[in-house]
Amino acid sequence: MVNRMNFEIERKERVREIEEIIKAHLPSQESYQKTVMEAMNYSILAGGKRLRPMLMEETFHLFGGQHRELLEPFMSAIEMIHTYSLVHDDLPAMDNDEYRRGRKTTHVVYGEAMAILAGDGLLNYAFETAAKAFRVIKAPTETEELMQYKQVAKAIEVLGDKAGIYGMIGGQVVDVQEAAGSVDRDRLDFIYHLKTGALIEASMMIGAILAGAGAGEVNKIESIAGDIGFAFQIRDDILDVTSSQEVLGKPVHSDEKNEKVTYVTIMDLNRASLEVEMISDRALKEFDSLGVENAYLKELIRRLITREN
Ligand code: IPE
Ligand code: IPE
Ligand code: MG
Ligand code: MG
Ligand code: MG
Repeated sequence: MVNRMNFEIERKERVREIEEIIKAHLPSQESYQKTVMEAMNYSILAGGKRLRPMLMEETFHLFGGQHRELLEPFMSAIEMIHTYSLVHDDLPAMDNDEYRRGRKTTHVVYGEAMAILAGDGLLNYAFETAAKAFRVIKAPTETEELMQYKQVAKAIEVLGDKAGIYGMIGGQVVDVQEAAGSVDRDRLDFIYHLKTGALIEASMMIGAILAGAGAGEVNKIESIAGDIGFAFQIRDDILDVTSSQEVLGKPVHSDEKNEKVTYVTIMDLNRASLEVEMISDRALKEFDSLGVENAYLKELIRRLITREN
């Protein structure tokens, strides 16, 4: 449908725009606590696919969203939370990895204490940023104004829920508790749905909420996004085995080093790839049943199945 060249050109353009939005929401580096701001900006400006803000924006378009001024703080906030999760995930106490997004990890450059604080700083700043959406509400009628207030409040609630102990943090907790050999498929699925699925769910749900989608539609989006995130993590496991640091911008064989149970260890590579395809196809089918169209978003979901980084 969308040819390869055109899709890549469009994707790069979107990444460029997203990075402008993120930059506009970052703290300036000043005063005695300047180092933590530098460390926050170091990790978030290192690049990355910007998948979560992209999914948020595309879901917003899918439901005909109008108020971009409400969306942009949330696009920045979700990338801050995702980046903090990576900074902490790479710490010696967790996966102990030294490269991320093609650079030395934050703890290698700034030291562990500052990396922990920079992660905390990004997490907190995400909510400071999201809350700024309340300030830019401007509507012609009181009813519409109230509606926008409710949408921003709901979006903040989803962001908190999906980032916390019932979401990403919860998944990371079970991930670090796993002992080699003791993880069955159910537990592994729980980890993936939470550690990776939850932030993808938040991204797409918030895009839908801020576009004014109804509760039924937001529920459907949550389920589609859950599948996308789940497949995304299995693909991440595969790339950890088959790719290179150059292409990924992060070390390969990190899972083996940490004796992690993954989809690649509970089944072979081919079977794991089939799972990615099956789960993504289910998401695409459910997407079709929404009755709204976004060709770019559909193509993006399709391409995640075989992504190389
Ligand atoms: C890495 O996420 C962590 C996982 C959830 C697998 P991404 O692969 O989206 O990382 P960036 O943002 O592109 O660096
Ligand atoms: C981590 O999964 C997902 C997060 C919530 C950060 P991984 O530990 O597999 O992510 P990478 O491979 O380091 O990016
Ligand atoms: Mg990890
Ligand atoms: Mg890791
Ligand atoms: Mg990984």
